[in-house]
Order: sequence, then C-alpha cells, then structure tokens
Amino acid sequence: MATSLQSSAPAASVPFSRQLCSGYRSSPSVSFPHSLSLKSLKTTTVAKSSKISAVVKTESSGLEQTEVDISLSPRVNSVKPSKTLVINDKATALAQAGVPVIRLVAGEPDFDTPAAIAEAGINAIREGYTKYTPNAGTLELRTAICHKLQEENGISYTPDQIVVSNGAKQSILQAVYAVCSPGDEVAKHPRLLVLSDEIYEHIIYAPATHTSFASLPGMWERTLTVNGFSKAFAMTGWRLGYIAGPKHFIAACNKIQSQFTSGASSIAQKAGVAALDLGFAGGKAVSTMVKAFRERRDFLVKSLGELEGVKMSEPQGAFYLFIDCSAYYGSEAEGFGKIENSESLCGYLLDKAQVALVPGDAFGDDSCIRISYSASLTTLKAAVQRIKKALLPLRPVVPV
Ligand SMILES: Cc1ncc(COP(=O)(O)O)c(C=O)c1O
Repeated sequence: MATSLQSSAPAASVPFSRQLCSGYRSSPSVSFPHSLSLKSLKTTTVAKSSKISAVVKTESSGLEQTEVDISLSPRVNSVKPSKTLVINDKATALAQAGVPVIRLVAGEPDFDTPAAIAEAGINAIREGYTKYTPNAGTLELRTAICHKLQEENGISYTPDQIVVSNGAKQSILQAVYAVCSPGDEVAKHPRLLVLSDEIYEHIIYAPATHTSFASLPGMWERTLTVNGFSKAFAMTGWRLGYIAGPKHFIAACNKIQSQFTSGASSIAQKAGVAALDLGFAGGKAVSTMVKAFRERRDFLVKSLGELEGVKMSEPQGAFYLFIDCSAYYGSEAEGFGKIENSESLCGYLLDKAQVALVPGDAFGDDSCIRISYSASLTTLKAAVQRIKKALLPLRPVVPV
C-alpha cells in the first residue's frame, strides 16, 4: 500500500492498534496496518476526545478520510514533567535565539568525561564490542561494582545482586515498580524498605563524609542502593547506573528491565569499568572536579550571602545551592508584576537578569530557588552580578 497524507503535523508512524492495549477504555478509533506510515497529519480536537483527521491515499481506493483517536492514558496526566528539564529547554531555546542566558539549571557536571573513560568507550566501538550484553549488565562491570561497593562503601554483594541500567533514574523507577503497589503507604517496620540514591557520594566536601545506608546495622536486608556514573565521572550522556540489594528484589528489577529496555549500552559498560578502575573514589580525575565544585560553592555562599533577605545553608555535597528567597515574595517588580512564589521569582530572574534557575517548588520547597553551580567561576561571577542587580530594586518585603 502506498500512502501519502496531506496535512500539517510532523511525520509519524502508526505504532500499534488500540485494540492491542489491554484495559484501554473503548473509544471509536481506527487501526492501521503496520505498513502505513503517516507523513503528515491534520489535528482537530473534538469535544473532549482528541482526534487526528488524516487523508490517506491508498493504492486500491484513492483518497480516504479517516480519524485517529490520539487521547492518552490517564497515566500521562499523573506524571509531571521534570521542571528542571522544562526550564533548561526554555533557557536553551532563548540562548539559541541569541539571548545571552546564563543557565544554572542542569544537574550535569560541566566537565568532560575523563579521558581514560572516554578512551575505553572508543576502544569498545573499535573492537566491535557493540552487541547486546546480559540484561543485568556484563559480568565484568558487575564484578567491578561489587569490588567498589566493598572497598568504598563497606557493603558486600555478589554480581547476581546487581542490575546495571541506563542511568540511576531507570534503576529507581524499576525498584519502585518492583516493590510498590498503588495505594501503598510508608509501611511499618517489617515492610520498610530504603531506596538509597548515592549518586553524589564522591561529590562531597571534607570534612563531610559519605556513609552508605546499607552499611548501617540491620539495614543491608532492607536497603536498595542506587548509584551511577553521571555525576562523579561526568558521564551524564553515557546513561549508566545500577542498583544493588538483596537478590529477591534485584531479580525483580532484572525481570522488569528485561521487558523495559534490556541491558545498558555495551559501550557505556566498558567505559564504566574504566571509571571504576580510576582508583578509590575515582582518584585524581574525580578529586580535581570536586575541588573545582568546592571553590564555586564557597564563592556563591559568600557572594549570595551578602544579599539582603536571602537565607541558605552551605551544601556539604553535590553542586546545588538551595536559597531561601521567600522574603522577596509579595514585592512588585516593575514591568513584570508581583513576585508570588519561587516560579515567578525564577521567571523574573530569567526575564530581567537572563539567568535561568529552578524554582524550589520542583523539589517540594516553594520558599527556595535552586542554583546549579556546574559552571565555571567566571560564569558564576557574571550570574551573581546579574542576580544582585535584578533583586536590588525589589527589596525584601518580609523582614529577615
Ligand atoms: C539525586 C539524583 N539521582 C539520580 C539522578 C539521575 O542519574 P542518572 O543520570 O544516572 O539517571 C540525578 C540527576 O539529576 C540526581 O540528582
């Protein structure tokens, strides 16, 4: 069947017929044969159900007008888009349009992946190490992870108690899928499980130290430890994380992953082995980055601490400053309107100072805004100047 469509939306292909979705509410819909590819679509919204009108040219019968039900699962409405990603996209679009926005949004180190790690990935490709790996990850990487967890965290696992995934975020999702049911609440002791995300363990400022939850007395059996390579090894784009825990739970995560995505990238896994080979806590490559983060933190804490009405505590790890700016809420900003909350304050700072920050309500505290200091000192200095200039005419309305 040859197809051509005359309308305006981007290219799409019809992936499946609605009838295949078990439990999907019945609605008038059209299912297409697999070979039908929609080049462009005209979208009309009809009452509450969204439908696409498509003109389909078939070899047998010429032009046909048909409708596709494009309503989505209620599940989609229950998921809030990541505010950080939304703001980052907005700031990136502004930057691409020529606005000199300083983006202090992303949870992503501004360093390159250390050379030895990158080389291992490149070699993997050169050597043709580009096939599927076991679902739970290569034995080589899982063995290296077990060694790391023993040496650095004091927790013992065997390779069958590890599942490597496409980033820590996936490990978290799979763990929640594996153990939580709709309506579950925080349970009493026997059912209490801890999901411990330790991805920032190496980005920590002495004298602070990291303790793995599973290493605490009586906690090994009830802790799922999540970690990954994105932060400490500046490997956000490689998409590599893992979960460790008692076999019963890890086998469940493994099963879920086998149907979600299969194993993580073979290339990234080779790079992960090289990362764990850098030495205790990532060796010099990681400590150099941590030193730079620390300098930036010290600069921000000092310079933003001078601002009237601002409260913050000094972060002991990671690369974010969470600043309480609620004293400014209620003030009128000329040409912008009232600053009501963290979202409008971030909107104002993006407008006025061209600095992109994340509203604290994305993390459950509307009194704060978040600054990511994964940017050079020079960039941070420019950002602070702009923020100070923008906040100066506002003046805090709540005395602090
Ligand atoms: C606490 C924490 N855990 C996990 C992640 C995501 O890690 P990954 O890139 O391995 O999915 C982030 C990223 O921002 C994070 O801040």
